Amino acid sequence: MKIDIVTLFPNMFAGVFEESILKRAIELKKVEINYYNFRDYTNDLHNKVDDTPYGGGVGMVLMPQPIFDCVESIRTKDSKVILLTPSGKPYKQKMAYDLSLEKHLIIICGHYEGFDERIRSLADMEISIGDYVLTGGEIPAMVLVDSIVRLLPGVIKERSHREDSFNDNYLLDYPKYTKPRKFRNMEVPEILLSGDHKKIDEFRKKESLRKTKELRPDLLKK
Ligand code: ADE
Repeated sequence: MKIDIVTLFPNMFAGVFEESILKRAIELKKVEINYYNFRDYTNDLHNKVDDTPYGGGVGMVLMPQPIFDCVESIRTKDSKVILLTPSGKPYKQKMAYDLSLEKHLIIICGHYEGFDERIRSLADMEISIGDYVLTGGEIPAMVLVDSIVRLLPGVIKERSHREDSFNDNYLLDYPKYTKPRKFRNMEVPEILLSGDHKKIDEFRKKESLRKTKELRPDLLKK
């Protein structure tokens, strides 16, 4: 998979993508990630990317020309263009699965007070990572890339993500324990030490349901 990130702040991604599973996925060539700074695509002598809003109001608005020129120079018939915005479709695990099947993603990160409405016409999809407003689309882009890349074949063991919370069954993942058996008076449930895999499976299913009822009852209504 190829992922092109259209951003004014490509340096924000160093670090996050240079550690752990993302780093390995890139090294194994499971994913190629490129950064395009749309400031490099301005027609303006001063590399201006934003301007004041027509009709008045606070803050600066990203202008369409640099983003259009940038996206049009990298888009092919296989590309899916995603615009990150708090008014987009709420991001869910199912969307990560669907996006992990694409060949080429172009992710546009907005910044400042917002972007010219005409930029929306470039996008195949508008996504929000939650009902809160961040300073830009860079952190949401990291969230998308992380959640998608871990699903690519050969990045992590498939069993690990089959058991994820928020898969089709809408249950939270079951609780996990490791050594030591007893930590500050908290003990590992006896059944997990029994070696009886049928019982362990039943226990995990029950715990998964119990945790969902306790922490995310809204999921059960689905
Ligand atoms: N840009 C700013 N806030 C955002 C959010 N919650 N989701 C996606 N993009 C954003």
